[in-house]
Amino acid sequence: MFRLLVTGAAGFIGSHTCVCLLGRGYEIIALDSYVNSSARIYKRVIEIFERKGINIQSKLKIIKGDLRDKECIQNIFKNALLEKKPIKGVMHFAGLKAVGESVENPLKYWEYNWLSAFNLISAMVEFECRNIVFSSSATIYGLSKKSTLDEKSVINPINPYGNTKAAIEILLSDVFKRKENKLNVANLRYFNPIGAHSSGLIGEDPKGIPNNIFPIITQVAVKKIDHLNIYGNDWPTKDGTGIRDYIHVMDLAEGHLKMLEFLIKNDSKFINLNLGTGIGTSVMELVEIFKTVNDVNIPYRFVDRRPGDIDEIIADNSLAKELINWIPKRNIYDMCRDGYNWQINNPGGLG
Ligand code: UD1
Repeated sequence: MFRLLVTGAAGFIGSHTCVCLLGRGYEIIALDSYVNSSARIYKRVIEIFERKGINIQSKLKIIKGDLRDKECIQNIFKNALLEKKPIKGVMHFAGLKAVGESVENPLKYWEYNWLSAFNLISAMVEFECRNIVFSSSATIYGLSKKSTLDEKSVINPINPYGNTKAAIEILLSDVFKRKENKLNVANLRYFNPIGAHSSGLIGEDPKGIPNNIFPIITQVAVKKIDHLNIYGNDWPTKDGTGIRDYIHVMDLAEGHLKMLEFLIKNDSKFINLNLGTGIGTSVMELVEIFKTVNDVNIPYRFVDRRPGDIDEIIADNSLAKELINWIPKRNIYDMCRDGYNWQINNPGGLG
């Protein structure tokens, strides 16, 4: 089995993807700077396997490091070569993702997101690592006029966070086009990842007050937050609240695994791929389903629309089905159940 580098491995999507990769037998170098995560997550990842009588510790090499530091990433590739276990592929999750903060501090986002990707891709070219799966986002489609988006939709991000994601896709495209680099690229454009691993051992663990709706709902459910503010009930949707395509984080993680294996088998590929369910759920529907599935109360209030929000965004995921045979297995009920299970088991997150 190959050795893989996972950047941002301690984060929400990174940690769930590590579980998938380890379950498949891959050896991982897990890199994280912990600016927005905690190294405690790895104990939980190990425990998921221990509960099944499997010891994966020898397959998980944990490194604390920051991709903004060019030498740090060069040393990782260099040491892997010295150990005669070169890195065959990279899953690049590391980055910041708070839209509001990116507007307040754009330079920080270009540094943490873009510069980090630049250093990583430079090191990959230098050390002849050929495969990268990049954690992009549906946010790059911006204020699209269509509500169901395929990969050919116009790229038009509307904030610095989205701009950095789109710019990294362009950087990867330029490096890919130089054939001598022999780079294989997949830009995975996520819709709205929520839920948690069914064990309740790992899940989303935002530092401070969450920005996205799902961690707010789970924290309201355990009374850590008083109520949910719903941003507008006058959107042109069936019940007036915003519609999104929520996707279970484990389905997303499995999509990464399938994508990586596709890249490794096929040379010279540059793929843009939506990962979403193709199903839209309104804020009101999400709240009602969460309440029913978990038998909890979610107090809410309607407030003004949030600047920069849109009414509806849903993935056309037919390319993912066609290309890598990826079909989401978990529905919105599973997402609500697993997300709450993680929160009640870890009311204070990982501490
Ligand atoms: C947001 C970001 C997007 C980013 C994604 C990352 C914005 C404008 N967009 O997407 O760029 O890629 O997170 O995960 O920030 N809502 C409420 N009350 C809340 C929070 C949200 O009603 O307290 C509503 C929103 O209006 C929206 C839905 O819930 O209709 C989902 O919001 P959110 O979870 O923040 O995701 P996005 O806005 O889709």
